[in-house]
Amino acid sequence: MNFELATMNLDRAAADRSDILVVLVPEAFAPNDDALSQLISDGIKAGELDTKAGKLLQAWRIPEVKAARVLLVGAGDGSVRQVRSAVASAMAVVKAASVKRMTLCCPWECTGDVVRAAILTVADATYVYTTTKSRPEGRMLHQVLFGLPDATAVSSAFGLAVAAVGGIEFAREWANRPANHATPALLAEAARALAKGPKFQCEVLGPKQVLKLGMGAFLAVAQGSLEPLRFIVLKYNGTAKASPPVVLVGKGITFDTGGISIKPAPEMDEMKFDMSGAASVLGVFRALADIKPGINVIGLIPACENMPDGRAVKPGDVVTSLSGQTIEILNTDAEGRLVLCDALTYAERFKPRAVVDIATLTGACMIALGAVRSGLFATSDGLAQALLAAGESSQDLCWRMPLDDDYAEGLKTNFADVANVAGKAGGAVTAAKFLQRFAMAFDWAHLDIAGTAWKGGATKGATGRPVGLLLDYLVSVATSTSLVAARSRKVAGRGSLAASRRTAGRGR
Ligand code: BES
Ligand code: MN
Ligand code: ZN
Repeated sequence: MNFELATMNLDRAAADRSDILVVLVPEAFAPNDDALSQLISDGIKAGELDTKAGKLLQAWRIPEVKAARVLLVGAGDGSVRQVRSAVASAMAVVKAASVKRMTLCCPWECTGDVVRAAILTVADATYVYTTTKSRPEGRMLHQVLFGLPDATAVSSAFGLAVAAVGGIEFAREWANRPANHATPALLAEAARALAKGPKFQCEVLGPKQVLKLGMGAFLAVAQGSLEPLRFIVLKYNGTAKASPPVVLVGKGITFDTGGISIKPAPEMDEMKFDMSGAASVLGVFRALADIKPGINVIGLIPACENMPDGRAVKPGDVVTSLSGQTIEILNTDAEGRLVLCDALTYAERFKPRAVVDIATLTGACMIALGAVRSGLFATSDGLAQALLAAGESSQDLCWRMPLDDDYAEGLKTNFADVANVAGKAGGAVTAAKFLQRFAMAFDWAHLDIAGTAWKGGATKGATGRPVGLLLDYLVSVATSTSLVAARSRKVAGRGSLAASRRTAGRGR
């Protein structure tokens, strides 16, 4: 879909010849002298147009407006949340009208966050999965013109939003693909294709190399499947080599049967989404190519299937992880932490600024937080704050969970350094405590997206979360490090100036 941004008041919007003109009308609507403004304020006065978020008033071929259809939408207080719900309800009408070109007009000076919310909502409503359909429906809406009184004020937010749409849709696409169309090898090919640009690199390791490295935990999960594992290393070099990277680690279980600790049949198909963390890392890299922030980013994806088989790992088996720690695999369905722990150890070699792993890790997190917020665990308060803030600004929310050492008690075992499961209680936290043992060498955060990565039921499908959150986080790191760099350049400059003055003084 093609998004454009334009400066327009309602008089210009009225002259626009798209298929449908959608106007967001806030409670505090301030009419100008133009005909459309007058029409809207008359509508409000007459009680025909309700400015509560999501309330609609439609018209067809009215003389004041060039577009065939006009849709007025209440935008409530004009906040990010209310604009999102307004655009979502407008999109139901837009989709039913099967139009190709839409102009979406926001007649007040809204913030960049509001622009982004509107654009993401339009994209979200019109995304259609097509890969495995023999006669794909495709997307009707092709062209979206977003108009507001001052386009220049929000142009960078607009650029970020359009890039985020690309990343989110890429993540949705890969997460939605069934396991036979999204094997570890296919994920690796997708990663390679993403790394075409000059600032990108991609390296893919197969079973032999992973064995040689000593990733015994990852190998144990993969050994029950005929699909060979892949360990994907993506690199984005957005700034000086010496600048420590942010490492993103995405759980890439392309199908999770549970293994020998097999899952029940109902809804097992949804375990094709168990590589949503990996898909979010791919989506982030896709968007990085558009945004080009001044930051270094590494993406690590351990990708394999978790299958029951004659060769599969068995409950009670003990394996040696890349870190050297031995693990008793009491439940083969707790496989995510096994592939992640070796990837976390691998991350040490990059001497990262921070490591964030993203995983559909526990049903328990879904029980705790539902589908609204992802679970956030962090060993650094600064990192936690930055991710929470990124969640708020992108409206891709998360919620911080605890990491008290007492939660690790249940992971103790007589037969290895650590067991891969504790009891039922606090399952999302005990999983995080397991991972923390492998993340002691850097600032680390873990996002449990079990409840947020996909929706079940009639609208079954991937959400693309938390690509939006991660992008905002990376952009915030890029901005703050470039500020710090600028400041230290200034300080250094002052220092040398003072030094040269001193020398000059002595010379005299
Ligand atoms: N991929 C699942 C977690 C999951 C389950 C996410 C349902 C979303 C919906 C993970 O590999 C898993 O099976 N976790 C187990 C852990 C348990 C065995 C300690 C779980 O949550 O039941
Ligand atoms: Mn599992
Ligand atoms: Zn899993």
